[in-house]
Amino acid sequence: MKEITHELISSFRAPAFPGSFFLSFEGIEGAGKSTQINRLKKYLEEEKNYRVLILREPGGTPFGEKLRQAILETKTEISPLAEAHLFAASRSQLLSEVILPELSVPNTVIICDRYIDSSVVYQGHARGLGVAEVLDIHNIFPLNLVPHLTFYLRIGAEMSEKRQKIRNSPKDYFEAKGIEFYKKLVVGYDLMHELFPNRVLKLDAEGSMDEVTQLILKNTEILLASATLDDVSINNDD
Ligand SMILES: Nc1ncnc2c1ncn2[C@@H]1O[C@H](COP(=O)(O)OP(=O)(O)O)[C@@H](O)[C@H]1O
Ligand SMILES: [Mg+2]
Repeated sequence: MKEITHELISSFRAPAFPGSFFLSFEGIEGAGKSTQINRLKKYLEEEKNYRVLILREPGGTPFGEKLRQAILETKTEISPLAEAHLFAASRSQLLSEVILPELSVPNTVIICDRYIDSSVVYQGHARGLGVAEVLDIHNIFPLNLVPHLTFYLRIGAEMSEKRQKIRNSPKDYFEAKGIEFYKKLVVGYDLMHELFPNRVLKLDAEGSMDEVTQLILKNTEILLASATLDDVSINNDD
């Protein structure tokens, strides 16, 4: 497997569009991504007057939605390499068709429900393709543009299982893989926080929904305020 070099890590940057922000939410099933994204959207629209777009990965474009169906509903095993390329293809299309044009409109916040970290964690770490290998696939414009801030909602595998049971949703491709797979995902996400400590914010998401929301809003405020001060995007990945 390839080595994770400083050069590779530092090739990822947030897009610089004055007054607009690119955010993502990460974490295993049941972490609270959907819940918290909707709360953050409401807050940014109602309290801060931003125009907010929520995007789902993979998907968000007609091509991406087709890929999403194909990946999530497949009955046969797709290799991690093929899967990583499918997600990257969808992401690349989403960047040029939606993310970049929309961010060029001032006062916009794009919130992605999963982004690059999901590919690195699921295909790279948990399915064994390699973290550097998946990062490498993204080391080309515009795939090397990453969110200003990523909220990693951290819950353990047991909490995920508990919340999924309450939700009682049918198991999809990923959810059918069992608790050991979830444990690997948590290790993978923790690693992403270590590799990108300033972008990937690790938040304890086992507390109440309101506690998690408070942490998210506090850190969003810090991002918005710091960008207003220097009028540049925050990116301290290197
Ligand atoms: N902090 C929390 N405490 C308790 N239950 C939660 C919390 N966050 C989310 N839930 C519940 O867990 C389930 C999964 O939440 P959801 O937002 O759909 O997570 P995700 O989108 O990450 O899979 C939902 O039933 C939701 O109401
Ligand atoms: Mg969700």
